[in-house]
Amino acid sequence: MANRKIFVLNGPNLNLLGQREPEIYGTTSLSDIETGLRQRAEQVGYSLDFRQTNGEGTLVDQVQEAMTDGAGLIINPGAYTHTSIALRDALAALSIPVIEVHLSNIHAREAFRQTSHVSPVVTGVICGLGAQGYARALDALCALMR
Ligand code: DQA
Repeated sequence: MANRKIFVLNGPNLNLLGQREPEIYGTTSLSDIETGLRQRAEQVGYSLDFRQTNGEGTLVDQVQEAMTDGAGLIINPGAYTHTSIALRDALAALSIPVIEVHLSNIHAREAFRQTSHVSPVVTGVICGLGAQGYARALDALCALMR
């Protein structure tokens, strides 16, 4: 049977969603996002591997796992978006569709957030839609994987 697993990888500080700067990132927790996304994925016949890490190397390892084990990837790399060439290189090695998600509109924020090292090597980018950006990313992935 075809691989039906979607990886959802979350980088540093996203474990604090709901408590962390709620005026920017909203009040929905990461576990609420996970629950909603899992239901949505199961309805359309996909399973989710949903993770969060504060470590750059761990995030790179997880991208490599998605490379061998995933049909698609949703990634919010947090601050590593703006700093990590290692993460960009890992993502560039993938041949599955990848959607980069940010809760906030990184282009409307500080200058250092307006550069994403990962955007040039992913399939698409969703930012500024808050927690529902993850659901939109899942919809997009499903269409791309069809
Ligand atoms: C973020 C945006 C990043 O600039 C920031 O470092 C984050 C969260 C977002 O989802 O809006 O940690 O990726």
